[in-house]
Amino acid sequence: MSSVLSRGGFSVRQCLRISPVRSFLNAPYRHFSARSVVSVVYSASGSQKNQLRCPSSALRGAHSLHSRLSSTMLSQDQEARLRQTVDKTSFADPTTVRCNHVHLKLDVDFDAKVLRGHVDLTVERTREGSDPLKLDTRALSIHEVTDAATASSSAATALPWELEKPGVLGTSRLLVTLPESSAALGSKVTVRISYTTSSEATALQWLDTNQTADKEMPYLFTQCQAIHASSMLPCQDTPSVKCPYTAELTVPTGMTCLMSATNPGGESQEQIDGGRTRFHFKQTIAIPSYLIAIAAGKLYGKKIGVRSNVWAEKSVVEKAAFEFSETEDFIQAAEKIVGPYQWGQYDLLVLPPSFPYGGMENPCLTFVTPTLLAGDRSLSSVVAHEISHSWTGNLVTNRTWEHFWLNEGFTRYLENRIVGSLYGEPRRHFAFIEGWKALQNSIDHFGASSPLTALIPPLDGIDPDDAFSSVPYEKGSSFLFYLETLVGGRDVFEPFLRAYVEKFQGITLTSGDFQDFFLSFFADKASQGVFDAVDWERWFFAPGMPPVKPEYDTSLVLVVEQLLEKIEKLMSSKAVLTESLSPADIGDFSSCQLVELLDRLLRHPPYTQDMVAQLDQVYALSAAKHNTEVHFRWLRLGMRAGVESCFHGAKDFVTKQGRMKFVRPLYRDMFGNSSWLTEGHAHFQTHAMFYHPIARTMIGKDHQSAVAKVSATT
Ligand code: BES
Ligand code: ZN
Repeated sequence: MSSVLSRGGFSVRQCLRISPVRSFLNAPYRHFSARSVVSVVYSASGSQKNQLRCPSSALRGAHSLHSRLSSTMLSQDQEARLRQTVDKTSFADPTTVRCNHVHLKLDVDFDAKVLRGHVDLTVERTREGSDPLKLDTRALSIHEVTDAATASSSAATALPWELEKPGVLGTSRLLVTLPESSAALGSKVTVRISYTTSSEATALQWLDTNQTADKEMPYLFTQCQAIHASSMLPCQDTPSVKCPYTAELTVPTGMTCLMSATNPGGESQEQIDGGRTRFHFKQTIAIPSYLIAIAAGKLYGKKIGVRSNVWAEKSVVEKAAFEFSETEDFIQAAEKIVGPYQWGQYDLLVLPPSFPYGGMENPCLTFVTPTLLAGDRSLSSVVAHEISHSWTGNLVTNRTWEHFWLNEGFTRYLENRIVGSLYGEPRRHFAFIEGWKALQNSIDHFGASSPLTALIPPLDGIDPDDAFSSVPYEKGSSFLFYLETLVGGRDVFEPFLRAYVEKFQGITLTSGDFQDFFLSFFADKASQGVFDAVDWERWFFAPGMPPVKPEYDTSLVLVVEQLLEKIEKLMSSKAVLTESLSPADIGDFSSCQLVELLDRLLRHPPYTQDMVAQLDQVYALSAAKHNTEVHFRWLRLGMRAGVESCFHGAKDFVTKQGRMKFVRPLYRDMFGNSSWLTEGHAHFQTHAMFYHPIARTMIGKDHQSAVAKVSATT
């Protein structure tokens, strides 16, 4: 086989026999089409339910019914995508063999910058026969595959395996032949795979001691979402497979190792030979592979709430404890909306500055960027967002990345609910208005007809990182807000949210499952025609802005708009801004309002350097460095006007932190200006190793597009 990279044992016997598809139903289940109301009740035996634990496969019977009912509204292709069961970003095939448990035993080797050891994957046959176990790997060296049950004997049973060459997404399929004795449906095997990660591991960032804040010890952190877990361990790297995990990791003594699991207490660590400490972890709730996370470094913890610690390097801990002191209030606010927090601990880890995201919802241990440390808690809504994922995303998970809005749109909606409950309903509406503008920006960026601007984008052969934008967040949450208004408001919608979490927790779903459940929950309203006007097809599949803009309370944005109007009038009449504007104009603004003002200015044609300088003189924009959201927008505004000092400021900013939300647009602005393109790119190359591998790749791609654009116009 030409595509085979390496193999172990004897050759894999491919099984081509296809068993009839079994249909399972979580009973009782009711389904309503938008037109007619039909109720279907099915039942499945408990054992069947346990085997698949996946409502969509459970809904196949209802699905064909739905196809017939709604065929006039959705094309066959749309119908299939609405209920998609195959994840095209993964080689895994959970319909034949499914992973039920992961155990990791790894040494974190800071000298070689690799993870080395083995993973025990307990897998179960979901289809009788001899289908091999299909796993995702990315740049891993596979040493040996054995049946873990025989590991303690002198000759462990080797399992034949083969590793194929990387496909379009950069991942390689690993095929493992399971023992013949495991052909029966439901039989379980624990497969032990010994492996080492490589320097090409996209999930791992290794920092030398001098790259850390306190320069005490080196540091490792991971970022697995969306499809990078396979560079950390061979696994079924698809959100459609969820399972609990345990782990034992060794690190140099003196370091703390943390995972997205129970965090180390005294009894969970042991001193071992060679100056190393072993940490033990347990995640008892079923999670997808993208939520497995590791951090190791010289870390300190401080309690910030009954179930929360903040972890960071020593010089950062106090500042972080202050910044995130509202954590418990956020959790309690979320619990009032969607029910009890189920993960026990909720800790926060403040990462080194190169962390590529604002936050990452790793279970029990949210990872956050240090760019949130504004000193005034003004950026803490990111924590409210990550807390919200504890329900939407982590308990209730999108089945494939095409349905990512079920993770991020729901979470944005919930985040805004928390913000509303703590700071008042107008703040929630303000967040939606900001979101609508962010959506417009994303759609302008991709182009209004780009399929990637659809709520359910087609991801065939596309890396989810390339499709990432505000669309799932803002189109998704606006859709939920729109539905909220149709059912009669926030308080009527809330029981639906709770029931939704209750129904889908522990499993995965698609947009079709959501639609079915929504319509069945509000069956009375559906039969009264309340949702007749909902253009599901456009909301789900059409690119560009949504078909409906919900009505928001504009009280907080009005003052911003009034000031913007004043500024633009003065600018168009070429008036001296410093004479007519004063710092008092923004004296009462919250930092969100200031951010909104800058966003609105950024949406308009570039201003002259003089105008920008005058705005700075009045509002001291260049001095507002503590708030990275403000600073970032100020730099962009200046760069749009060609202000050289802003270009230098941007170069400085992109080397101090590596959050993609900031560094990608700033580099794009540099690459988009012909006088800065070369210097900007040289700057990126000099600092490339500062960035997380994911960010490094994305900035590189942005540079290529900028160069292609230039050569297309010349
Ligand atoms: N899960 C995301 C981060 C993510 C998305 C990582 C896709 C990899 C692929 C996280 O919850 C998130 O949305 N973070 C946002 C902050 C939030 C307030 C919108 C971020 O990083 O900016
Ligand atoms: Zn999120």
